This record gives sequence, C-alpha cells and structure tokens, in this order.
Amino acid sequence: MTDNTDNQPRIWRCPQHQVEYGPDRIGERGYRMDWHCPDCERERSRTERALQAEHQRYEHWKHSSGVPTRYRCAVPASIQPLSPSAKSLRAAVQAYAGDLRARYEAGSGLVLIGPPGLGKTLALAAIINEACKVYRGPVYATWPDALASLKAGIGGAKGDPRCEAVDSLRDAPFLALDEVAGVRDASDFDHSELFGLIDYRYREELPTLVAANATAAQFPGLVGERVADRLRETGPQLVLIGESQRGKAALDGAAAFEEPPRSIKVRTHNQGAWRERTITFRDGRIAA
Ligand SMILES: Nc1ncnc2c1ncn2[C@@H]1O[C@H](COP(=O)(O)OP(=O)(O)OP(=O)(O)O)[C@@H](O)[C@H]1O
Ligand SMILES: [Mg+2]
Ligand SMILES: [Zn+2]
Repeated sequence: MTDNTDNQPRIWRCPQHQVEYGPDRIGERGYRMDWHCPDCERERSRTERALQAEHQRYEHWKHSSGVPTRYRCAVPASIQPLSPSAKSLRAAVQAYAGDLRARYEAGSGLVLIGPPGLGKTLALAAIINEACKVYRGPVYATWPDALASLKAGIGGAKGDPRCEAVDSLRDAPFLALDEVAGVRDASDFDHSELFGLIDYRYREELPTLVAANATAAQFPGLVGERVADRLRETGPQLVLIGESQRGKAALDGAAAFEEPPRSIKVRTHNQGAWRERTITFRDGRIAA
C-alpha cells in the first residue's frame, strides 16, 4: 500500500479506457475500487484465458489429435493443383478449412474416395490441422486401426483402455476417419461398430470427414448402405481420379500449428501509471 500522507484522494484515470479508479473511488456497485483500472484488468484476464486456451488446443494437436508425423505440416495449400481432380480436392479443402465454424454448426463433413496416392490423407490431415487451431479436440484416425485397437482391448485385461478406441472418437468436434473402407472381409461386428460411430455423430450433428480407397460404386457396399446414406447427407462426395502422386510431390514445411508463445506482455494502468506485466504459461497453466 502506498502512503496517503498528503490526503489527496487516491483516484486515477486510465488514459486508455477513460475510467476513474482507486480506493477512494466508489464503483457502481457500491464497493471501493481497486488500484488497477478495471478495464485493463478485464483485458488482462481475457488475454490470459486466450493464451491458456491456445496452449490447450496446441497440446491436444501435438499429443492427442492422431495426425500422423508425415502430415503434421499439411495445410490446404499443400495440395498442389497437379490435375483436375487435385484442383477440385484443393478447392474443397480450402473451402472447408476457410469455413470451419459454419461447417461445425451445420455438422457437415466430406467424403473423399479414389485410388491410392491422390491426396486423400493429405486433405484430411490438412483439415484436422486447421481445425485444431480453432477447436480443442479434432481427431484424425484410421478406421482399421481404431477397430483393431478395440478388438485387442476386448481381448485384453478388464478395463483395458483400448476398449475405448472407437468410443473415444464419438465426441470429437471434427473427426477425420481415414481408410473407412479398409477393413478386409468386414464382419457384422465391424459393420455395426462403424455404423454406431457414424450414426452417433450424425445424430449429434458432429462433422465427420472420411476417405476411402474405393470406387464410387464399391463404396456403399464396403462401408454399409446405412453408413453411406448418412455420409451422403452430411457432405459432398469427391471422387478422385488419376495416377498416384506418391513420391512425386514432396510434402514438407513448418509444422501446421506453431507452438504458442510461453509468455506475453500486457500493460495495465495502476496507481496512475502504466505497468508492464508478463503473462506466463508454465506446466499446463497460467503461472501465478
Ligand atoms: N495434389 C497433391 N499435392 C501435393 N502432394 C500430393 C498431392 N496428391 C498426393 N500428394 C502426395 O502424395 C503422397 C500420398 O498422398 P496421400 O497419402 O494423401 O494419398 P491417399 O490418397 O491418402 O492414398 P492412399 O489411398 O494410398 O492412402 C503424399 O506424400 C502427398 O503429399
Ligand atoms: Mg491415405
Ligand atoms: Zn485501462
């Protein structure tokens, strides 16, 4: 506390917010005001929350999004317009990633089908990478892997976390399910697991993007008619054609999601003067 020997009222004005504050100023609710400008304080805590949220989104992307290492740098612009088919893929991915909030609100997805090496996984990863910057929790997974994990979990010890391999995909804000037609000789169990997942997300209006190595004619038979029907309703289907680009177009560049800063500086008006304060993120939270 500062001395108040000259008996001047301890009231100051923030030049930025034009607010009077100080312990001798009674605020609107009848309380003594603080030594800081209240608007500066509000901005500081908003900045703190934003930094914390950005770190949480980043941590999710890094450790829990499932995006494979090879596709960590994928962004919509990584899809080169190498052919008419790649051009429409690039346009679809750019449109989707540029409009994430509306797609989320509408629960709309995307279906990518076609032969190997045409950028399906690249496209899914690019969208999940972008979505991770805005939402906490988008996930990329391949359907054969998720299903294999589930089966291993069921065969494992009681409480094996792999039992959640499929259920844990249910509530992701965006789900990219790759190789959705990639389970050989799918059994009734396999079909019903896929249907359960897709139908849950359909009912909850959560966006699901899928890719499959198949032709348009094979697709419904491979994933099941009821799955195909739901996917048809929630998003456009892109059929890719052409030669595999694998090994032809290099995919490199910086990580799609840059690590947020560890600390940022903010100014607050305190006792009549500007004070610089540092907001620091450490050990998973804003440091006191
Ligand atoms: N349009 C493109 N622009 C740039 N790179 C591309 C394009 N299409 C494919 N590639 C590159 O080719 C490789 C294979 O692409 P990707 O893994 O996305 O294929 P895919 O369609 O998922 O194939 P598969 O069905 O075999 O899984 C990747 O390294 C990717 O970067
Ligand atoms: Mg692929
Ligand atoms: Zn202020």
